[in-house]
Amino acid sequence: MESIVKAFASAFDTVAGRAVDPVVRRSKHADFQVEGALALGRELRRPPREVAADVLGHVAAQGFDAVVAGAGFINVTVGDDWLAGRLAEAASDPRLGVPVTDTPEVVAIDYSAPNVAKEMHVGNLRSTVIGDAVARLLEWLGHDVRRINHIGDWGTSFGMLLEHLEESGSPDEAGIGDLDAFYKAARARFAADEEFAERSRQRVVALQSGDEATLRLWHKHVDESERYLLAVYATMGVTMSKEDFVGESFYNPMLGPLVEELESAGLLRDSDGAKCLFPDGFSGRDGEPLPIIVRKRDGGFGYSATDLAAIRYRIKNLKADRVLYVVGAPQAKHFAMVFAAARAAGWLTGSVRAEHVQFGSVLGADGKLLRSRAGDGVKLRELLDEAVARAYEIVGPSLEDGERHAVARAVGIGAVKYADLSNHRLKDYVFDWDRMLATNGDTAAYLQYACARVASILRRAGGSATASIVLTHPSERALALELLGFPGVVEAVAQTFEFQKLTGYLFGLAGAFNAFFRDCRVLQAEDDASRASRLVMCDLTRRTMVQGMGLLGIEVPERM
Ligand code: ARG
Repeated sequence: MESIVKAFASAFDTVAGRAVDPVVRRSKHADFQVEGALALGRELRRPPREVAADVLGHVAAQGFDAVVAGAGFINVTVGDDWLAGRLAEAASDPRLGVPVTDTPEVVAIDYSAPNVAKEMHVGNLRSTVIGDAVARLLEWLGHDVRRINHIGDWGTSFGMLLEHLEESGSPDEAGIGDLDAFYKAARARFAADEEFAERSRQRVVALQSGDEATLRLWHKHVDESERYLLAVYATMGVTMSKEDFVGESFYNPMLGPLVEELESAGLLRDSDGAKCLFPDGFSGRDGEPLPIIVRKRDGGFGYSATDLAAIRYRIKNLKADRVLYVVGAPQAKHFAMVFAAARAAGWLTGSVRAEHVQFGSVLGADGKLLRSRAGDGVKLRELLDEAVARAYEIVGPSLEDGERHAVARAVGIGAVKYADLSNHRLKDYVFDWDRMLATNGDTAAYLQYACARVASILRRAGGSATASIVLTHPSERALALELLGFPGVVEAVAQTFEFQKLTGYLFGLAGAFNAFFRDCRVLQAEDDASRASRLVMCDLTRRTMVQGMGLLGIEVPERM
């Protein structure tokens, strides 16, 4: 497929005098359809069919036939030999035709980032799942990925929590589960009791200025939280390790110098005793310019100040070429302002990019934010336990206990991740157990089943060996075309992090495989050459699915 794109891209180039996306898609009418002449025709005010014919005249056709069709499409039909050749190439490539980037970048990816005073809840799900997929993908493409867990271990709410912990006796033994209730109580008190609120604010200042007793209390809880978070990541199969925990507190010593730097650059203004940065182009509802409060009136620093120090650190110290923030859509303005400030400060310059990889919310059946029966955010640990328990119902009762548990885990966790990643990133989605665990549908379980089926064929055949590809049946051809689409999909997903393109591709691949397996005998093929060829296709299908699911962070069991 890539060679078709290339052949047409250069023909379009010649016709338009500049680079034009030929827009190559799979098609019902032919193997591929090239759609680029439609837009180019509009732009050049020429009939698209004429542009298409012009383009065709410049295509050095190799191994495929192309004709102009319809309103200005180009239908492309590839030859069987060409197809077989490309497939053999993909099969002999451990990377399945996906090249390692020739422009590797240092990419800092800020994801998961729960607040340590609370249990992880469903609100942390998407950042964790999407962020991990972004990290796995960019790493596989050859980038130098720095995972960063910007955990909320600092700031106002922490002051209130520590104050409450200190005042209400022996909180040290409180497990993380109890910490949620504790947090609630502290918040209620903060809202109701102005003196407590003031002490809490003082506690924040004490924490930030390194008061020893406060720090001791703080350390205990952060350590416990980190152990708990690592356990959740292990259950989820999330590639975030202890070294990647760089919480908000890490930037505390940088905040003083940050103020000085911004001040001497003339970027800070006094507003009500607070030091503020007003980035260009941001105003509130009343048209007033919006500030980033860099230092509060009481001398404390907030979330935004920390993010300024963090982006500076990632660019200047980590030497990141690209800084990604996998955080929900409600923080869009916050990040836009932080990026604008980083540009004003001269950190975010040249080819360095900062991007907010945003996402929508997880909703309950009622269309509102998913909540537990008690009305709280659903605890992530409970949600994952339920996923695994439900998966037990659909995995093979014949597996022995240890394997069955591992498979149920892969299926349950996979279902949750897949449901998240197969929904459009920017949209909200409804969390629905039955749908995400359906064994026939666009689900992880369906793909895992398909994969287990391929694995079982390969086991019975004793594996597959290199063989030349023979394509006879249309379903066989269709599977071959599908398999060749993998590199293009990976490349597209790496541009936009629209993982639903990858899940959609894998779903289509599983469908093509099932049709192939229905229509073509593999183990009992007509002759040895077909058998060997089909086993190569089985093996390539399995490897493509395992790799594709692996990029999503989803395990594929050998048996189900
Ligand atoms: N802890 C924050 C929250 O729960 C998310 C942090 C995202 N990362 C960042 N650099 N601000 O909303």
